[in-house]
Amino acid sequence: MKNNVHLRYATRSVPRYTSYPTAPHFNAEVNGTVYAEWLAALPADASVSLYLHVPYCRSICHYCGCHTKAALRDDPVIEYAETLAAEINLVADTIGRKAKVTHIHWGGGTPSLLPEASFDKVMAAIRARFDLTGLIEHATELDPRTVTADLARSLVGAGVTRASLGVQDFDADVQVAIGRVQPFEVVEAAVGFLRAAGITALNFDLMYGLPRQSAESIRETVRLATLLAPTRLALFGYAHVPWFKKHQRLIDEAALPGATERMALEDIARQALADAGFLPVGLDHFARADDAMAKALAAGELKRNFQGYTTDDADTLIGLGASSIGRMPQGFVQNNPDIGGWRRSVEAGELPAVKGKALDADDRLRADLIERLMCDYRVDLREVCARHGVSAATLADGVAQLDELERDGLLIRDGDSIAMTTDGRPFVRIAAAAFDVYLARAAARHSLAV
Ligand SMILES: C[S@@+](CC[C@H](N)C(=O)[O-])C[C@H]1O[C@@H](n2cnc3c(N)ncnc32)[C@H](O)[C@@H]1O
Ligand code: SF4
Repeated sequence: MKNNVHLRYATRSVPRYTSYPTAPHFNAEVNGTVYAEWLAALPADASVSLYLHVPYCRSICHYCGCHTKAALRDDPVIEYAETLAAEINLVADTIGRKAKVTHIHWGGGTPSLLPEASFDKVMAAIRARFDLTGLIEHATELDPRTVTADLARSLVGAGVTRASLGVQDFDADVQVAIGRVQPFEVVEAAVGFLRAAGITALNFDLMYGLPRQSAESIRETVRLATLLAPTRLALFGYAHVPWFKKHQRLIDEAALPGATERMALEDIARQALADAGFLPVGLDHFARADDAMAKALAAGELKRNFQGYTTDDADTLIGLGASSIGRMPQGFVQNNPDIGGWRRSVEAGELPAVKGKALDADDRLRADLIERLMCDYRVDLREVCARHGVSAATLADGVAQLDELERDGLLIRDGDSIAMTTDGRPFVRIAAAAFDVYLARAAARHSLAV
């Protein structure tokens, strides 16, 4: 009975709420000119976080949902880094002074594909144009297959303090089915190089819902992953969207677990991670108690941005590179996802922003509420409304939509407080969606709720 109820929710389509409003509601009114005004108005004391996107990989994994493409040679990656350095100069010119950077995050794609000289060039531009004296974290995503002792040393030389490795699954059959053959020894060696160079804050990405995964295989994947003692893990549910990501057609749909099996796989992995001493953080993260993410959760300071759960509490996020999304005090801004278009704008001396969303007071209120609910699984509506100077009645429409979740024992309302129950936690996106005024109008398709 309980499983049937869960299944009913698990098959619903809802956004992942890495932002509110979500990216499908961005529009072309936010262009390079608007973005330039926003950057120029950046308050002098604003803390800034930089996200640098590198949309290249050596080959494309069958399951990949990221914005990336295959680069068999280094030339396009080297050229990309040149444009990235030029974009950094353009953004810094527009701000008009050295803004204070607290976080740097390299994502992709595979940022570790940048040859050392290109990586150094981008870092030199950042150092010349931003103030890094208050830098708290410098993190990069890495494909373990690209990690060498030299790369690890060069990352440390550039000040990288945290690395996130794409592990996904250790089972040999699953690896073949997902087009990513990466034996345990490869990940073990990558971890060894990083630790020897001095990078000890290590994240692993694992996935459930992959073709040919079984209860035994995922339990073994978690066992092997925890053997390597990362400080933090992410456990992502495979989002199968072959109509959108054509290469996912290489995944044999007959070998994909069904919705019930998916829930069971997630459960097993979650339990195994808990048994290994990792604390659950939000929907899909797990952290050792001494990791910054576990500490942020305990302090009620966990955040959510386009990378998912994060400890990054900077006021402003500047996205650099094709497709990158930034968050300014005035709203969201997204760069041209087309690498050629992005480059042409930067070469013409124009900011490569093509869309975004200016935020109004109601957007900010709902964004705050949804972020707290997604991070803490509970939120006091009166408190959130007070922070935004409105009465709790403003959210009455959303609250009215929570009846079904409450009846099914997935959520509890206590006065102005709403809290997901333990059973209800996996469905927190559905509770968040009740407060999303854009959703009803949404034509965009989203991934499954779990
Ligand atoms: C940019 S990649 C990580 C770095 C590097 N490219 C790698 O794969 O090693 C970000 C993570 O997103 C997750 N991911 C990719 N495609 C996904 C999909 N279709 N559904 C869910 N998670 C996905 C994977 O766990 C992957 O490690
Ligand atoms: S999962 Fe990582 S390595 Fe594989 S294609 Fe996607 S971004 Fe590239």
